[in-house]
Amino acid sequence: MKIDVLLGLQWGDEGKGKIVDVLSPKYDIVARFQGGPNAGHTLIFNNQKYVLHLIPSGIFRENTINIIGDGVVLDPVIFMQEVSGISKAGIDLTKNLFLAEKTNLILPTHRILDAANEKELGKSKIGSTGKGIGPAYTDKVSRNALHIGDILLQNFKEKYENIKQKHLNRLKTYDFDIDEYETKWFAAIDRLKEFNIINSSNFFNNALKEGKKILAEGAQGTLLDINAGTYPFVTSSTVSTAGVCTGLGVAPNKIGEVYGIFKAYTTRVGSGPFPTELFDEDGKKLQELGHEYGATTGRERRCGWLDLVALKYAIQINGVSKLIMTKSDVLEGFGYFKISERYKTNKNKIINYFPNNLLNIKPVLKKFASWKDDLKKCKSKKDFPQELQEYISYIENETKVPITIVSTGADRNETVFC
Ligand code: GDP
Ligand code: IMO
Ligand code: MG
Repeated sequence: MKIDVLLGLQWGDEGKGKIVDVLSPKYDIVARFQGGPNAGHTLIFNNQKYVLHLIPSGIFRENTINIIGDGVVLDPVIFMQEVSGISKAGIDLTKNLFLAEKTNLILPTHRILDAANEKELGKSKIGSTGKGIGPAYTDKVSRNALHIGDILLQNFKEKYENIKQKHLNRLKTYDFDIDEYETKWFAAIDRLKEFNIINSSNFFNNALKEGKKILAEGAQGTLLDINAGTYPFVTSSTVSTAGVCTGLGVAPNKIGEVYGIFKAYTTRVGSGPFPTELFDEDGKKLQELGHEYGATTGRERRCGWLDLVALKYAIQINGVSKLIMTKSDVLEGFGYFKISERYKTNKNKIINYFPNNLLNIKPVLKKFASWKDDLKKCKSKKDFPQELQEYISYIENETKVPITIVSTGADRNETVFC
């Protein structure tokens, strides 16, 4: 058996949570491999909406085990809040949610460091989610971090105080109060002990040997990847398929299907380049019709047309074998929409690759007629209006990857398998 992967091909919020929830009955195990509470994955079913930040989106399926893998950074307070919310739906999470022992902990001071870093950057700020992600991964790489497995150690508190002191030294000129959060943090740490804490690599490799079906759920999107993304306006983890190997402890030859998910247009939260961004009425309309507000921070998402150059780049980085398109219903009745087929540089040179520096890059746009029919009525690809069918063929032809799912609404049921 191999591990299938589902990840975002844009700047996040492509609808990963919804689609993982749809696919999860086919999987024995769903695992997060990177990121942390910067993620906001929305699931809607039975007229109920859930936003998950740390817990994998297979959590509402009775027979699916959900794992938070080694590559994740976890804030125990946010995690326990989420656990309480979901427990109200009658699910006993200590049975089907396991934590990997090398998952890094986000400390209360990591959040303060995140805010301090942003403040010091001033106008060049990243626009982080403020959850302490960058500082937590910085401590991991600089060999200073605490793992979930450490909470069982006798000297856990001492280790915590050592790291906190380093943070306080860095934050000397700042005024802040973490006492209340720290109390909640230690209470949440105690509750983590109720969960099954696993060795990630052993768990996943044994599960594969036993023939278990596993889905790795990405957070953020490829263009926010620490290596492949629009650096420095990125997150601090390996968002791409490579992150599944390091984040779960499995070899590259254990990767199976790679589902790459994208919106029929593009959005971005936070700062950084965005070649197809719209500043006109069309941008406002996409924002309104798509309800484009961040699921974690509530910030307005910047909106623009689909960027085919960036999409092809993300497919290449991840080895995408199947595409999933979401929010096609938002373009319904729009009249028209556009796609950036190529880029133009400031020297008027046309390029068809994703350059390292996107400054002064302009999109070369192709116009399409949008569909008018209510897509929610469509149960299969043949029910799709001709314009949508042509659009699907166009993308498949350009990317050489089949579109296997089209999402036509936010609800679990508004999903068409092609
Ligand atoms: P994620 O971070 O990739 O899981 O995506 P988010 O949950 O942050 O953002 C996606 C938003 O679009 C959520 O509000 C979803 O409920 C919603 N959504 C997902 N798929 C569709 C779709 O096909 N059509 C519409 N209209 N909304 C969708
Ligand atoms: P999901 O999983 C959209 C963005 C932030 C900021 C940058 C760095 O819901 O798709 P960080 O807090 O990670 O240091 O912020 O990354 N960002 C996201 N944008 N969706 C997300 O996750 C994001 N997680 C981080 O807005 O620009
Ligand atoms: Mg999101």
